[in-house]
Amino acid sequence: MKIKIQIILLIIMTNCQTPKTNNEQRKAIFLTKEEKEFVLMEMRELLKALHYIHVGLSNENYEFAYQSSKKVGMNMVNELKAAEKMILIKLPSEFKKLGFATHNQFDILADSINKKDNKKIQENLSILTSYCVNCHDLYKFEVEHEK
Ligand code: HEC
Repeated sequence: MKIKIQIILLIIMTNCQTPKTNNEQRKAIFLTKEEKEFVLMEMRELLKALHYIHVGLSNENYEFAYQSSKKVGMNMVNELKAAEKMILIKLPSEFKKLGFATHNQFDILADSINKKDNKKIQENLSILTSYCVNCHDLYKFEVEHEK
């Protein structure tokens, strides 16, 4: 019994340590300080939206969850396009693809929330968060040196 607990503890401890080593392999994307701040602000909006979606769903307030998801869908991309023009040039195409897929997935999720299809909602949420996790494993932002 005691040995079993020790093995479980060892597994938990090693699993907790792996993200640190993984992160070192992330590819750096170089942006100016302002551009980096801008993208990170957008990121925080995504997390906030995800939170509001969960709040809405847990209160069975589908309308609130729907609006929260729509807010960061493809509409957000179109609104920010002008401001992001310079940033978009600097982003690798894989990054952009994942980014657009994420915004698009918020629209798809909004659609299943609108239909109150709980199974589809769960499915679409897990697809959505897989994009967040995948991209975070692949990239990091760094500030480029002033010329
Ligand atoms: C296309 C790539 C990509 C996708 C998709 C993505 N992120 Fe990020 N995110 C990043 C990068 C790169 C950083 C900066 C990480 C670093 O430099 O250490 C970041 C940082 C963040 C941060 C930190 C913000 C801060 O102020 O430091 C939050 C919160 C975040 N992301 C939330 C999300 C959520 C939630 C999703 C999914 C709904 C998501 N991101 C999807 C690339 C992405």
